[in-house]
Amino acid sequence: MHQDEQKALVAKEAVALMLREISAGEILGIGTGSTVNLFIDALSPYAKHFRGVVSSSEASTARLIEKGFHVFDANEVGNIIAYVDGADEINAQGHMIKGGGGALTREKIVASMAEKFVCICDSSKQVEVLGNFPLPIEVIPLASAHIARTIEQQLGAEVSIRMSKSRPDEKMITDNGGWILDVRGLKIHHPKELEIELNQIPGVICNGIFARNAANVLIVSSQEGVRTIQY
Ligand code: 5RP
Repeated sequence: MHQDEQKALVAKEAVALMLREISAGEILGIGTGSTVNLFIDALSPYAKHFRGVVSSSEASTARLIEKGFHVFDANEVGNIIAYVDGADEINAQGHMIKGGGGALTREKIVASMAEKFVCICDSSKQVEVLGNFPLPIEVIPLASAHIARTIEQQLGAEVSIRMSKSRPDEKMITDNGGWILDVRGLKIHHPKELEIELNQIPGVICNGIFARNAANVLIVSSQEGVRTIQY
């Protein structure tokens, strides 16, 4: 089965879970990425089942509005019943690396507001130890060189600034006006500790380790089909 078909399967399974477990009139949190796009599309016939959604990126917001969802600003809502998002890597504890699409900061904010994190991905994202996927860190642009040097010295890792896909000679600018550093060469054996440590470097807005906001549920697909794992 092709990876896109596997992503479509988890998206469909996540829709079934939402309709089964979430009462009408609740607010959902929505992540960012290709798997989430399929989830948004599959959920759209039921857009009015929910009071609305809180989105984690401008890209998801545009798609959600186009598909008929009411999108709330995060400041307008008190409670988000569940947050659905993809991951770049996930380990057996539900700790993740996220931010491949550069939306990590808003993703972490919305995830932290939600009662439950439902991760949807294909089995290529499941790992024993996080770190093979370059760890994204969103930074204040003027601090980027200092942060890169600090991480290289402290962690012995290789750091690069992410460039724009559409304009490869320009830095990628996030929805928050930040830049993204991608950190290669890590083996993250203690995700909670490293998540906290990275946040201490002045100028770091957010890092892509989601250990303190780990997944509570994983819907994962492989050649054998779809599985749901509760953490
Ligand atoms: C975006 C993310 C995505 O969830 C992550 O990159 C997975 O994306 P995809 O579903 O396209 O594989 O963290 O910032």
